[in-house]
Amino acid sequence: MIRRGPGHDAETAPPPERELRQEPPIESGGWFQPRRIWLLSTPMSTITLGPARMGDAPAIAHLSRDLIEADLPWSWTPRRVAGLMRQRESAAVIARDQNRLAGFILAQYGDESAHIALLGIANEYRRQGIGRRLVQWVEETAMVAGLFLVRLEVRAGKREARHFYARLGYRETDRVDGYYSGLEDAIKMSRDLRALSTSK
Ligand SMILES: CC(C)(COP(=O)(O)OP(=O)(O)OC[C@H]1O[C@@H](n2cnc3c(N)ncnc32)[C@H](O)[C@@H]1OP(=O)(O)O)[C@@H](O)C(=O)NCCC(=O)NCCS
Repeated sequence: MIRRGPGHDAETAPPPERELRQEPPIESGGWFQPRRIWLLSTPMSTITLGPARMGDAPAIAHLSRDLIEADLPWSWTPRRVAGLMRQRESAAVIARDQNRLAGFILAQYGDESAHIALLGIANEYRRQGIGRRLVQWVEETAMVAGLFLVRLEVRAGKREARHFYARLGYRETDRVDGYYSGLEDAIKMSRDLRALSTSK
């Protein structure tokens, strides 16, 4: 089967005033390569979504370390991020605020399902719908590839991330002891996209 991939305290602060605009459909430059698309604008910034380039790998890795692996050994190093980005069956999409990296998502497309390997939104850009939009992007591209299941693992202690995914329709399916360097369990979550595709 074809599975070529494309590549203040935000928790408590109210979401910034923003203007959500009609989003254009995601278009492909090559297989799964989204064009740089504009996502949302706030009084302070305009955030765009677009494919990550290899040169973004170090910034993604550093943000990932700070947001996801801060108290764990750093496993998603620049080399590992770049390695995943090089895989044909993977996708890396970033949210950019001019030259600043606001967020990223890395996903892999298999024979049966798509897998979200990494997702992070910088603290100052949270609760603006960016994480939701990045996950939607993976879901949409998965369906284009004929995949109707999206899977991921999340740190058991990351209550806000578990809540985020639950709000997006993901169910907790399993727990894996010591998945993160033997220090923390993972919660496996997944979403069946079939209902989504037939309701459109
Ligand atoms: C989890 C994370 C990706 C959410 O990104 P985000 O852009 O802030 O999320 P969104 O604005 O798209 O939120 C969508 C919905 O999810 C829920 N949600 C998001 N963050 C939440 C939080 N901290 N607490 C509770 N619910 C939350 C809300 O229902 C939210 O909708 P609302 O703002 O209208 O209430 C972000 O907090 C993050 O990067 N966390 C650290 C890294 C991480 O844990 N990554 C995931 C595992 S790899």
